[in-house]
Amino acid sequence: MLYDTVDRSNVEKMVRSFYAMLVQDDIVGPYFIRALGSDFKNDKWYEHFRTLDHFWLMLMNGEPGYTGDPFGPHAFLGDLGPETFERWLKLFNEHVHKYYVPEIAEKFYKKADILAKQFVVRLETTGEEEEE
Ligand code: HEM
Repeated sequence: MLYDTVDRSNVEKMVRSFYAMLVQDDIVGPYFIRALGSDFKNDKWYEHFRTLDHFWLMLMNGEPGYTGDPFGPHAFLGDLGPETFERWLKLFNEHVHKYYVPEIAEKFYKKADILAKQFVVRLETTGEEEEE
C-alpha cells in the first residue's frame, strides 16, 4: 500500500532503499561509493542517511532539523554533469512513486527537480570561475 502521509518512519525507509538502489546504478552509483564507500554500515553512510532524513522531513513537512547546505558537498564530487542529475532524478521519481500516493510522490520529485536544476547551474558557474 502506498503511503498517503510523510513521516519519519516512511522517510527513513524510502531514503535507505533509494540509496541501496542508487549505488548499483552504473552512472550515479560510483559518485556515492567514491565519497562514502560501499558499506552502508559505515559512519559516513550513517551520517548521510540521518542528514537526508532531516532534509526530506524539512522539505516535505517543514520540520526543523536540517541545518546544512544541500549544495556544498556536490561541488567536490568531480565531474558531475546535467546527465548524471537527470539519471538521479529519473530513478528518484520512479522510487518515490513506489512508496507514496501520486500527489506526495510528485511533491518529492518537484522539490528534487528544483534543487537539481540549481545544483547544475551552480556547478557550471563554479567550473567557469575555476577556469579563469
Ligand atoms: C547526480 C546526482 C547526485 C549525486 C552524485 C550526489 C551525491 C552526493 C554525495 C556523495 C553526498 C555526500 C557527500 C559527503 O557527505 O561527503 C551528497 C550529499 C547530499 N545530497 Fe546529493 N547527490 C546528487 C543529487 C542530489 C539531489 C538532486 C539532491 C536534492 C534533492 C541531493 C541532496 C543532497 C543533500 C541534502 C546532501 C547532504 C548535504 C549536507 O551535508 O548537508 N543530492 N550528495
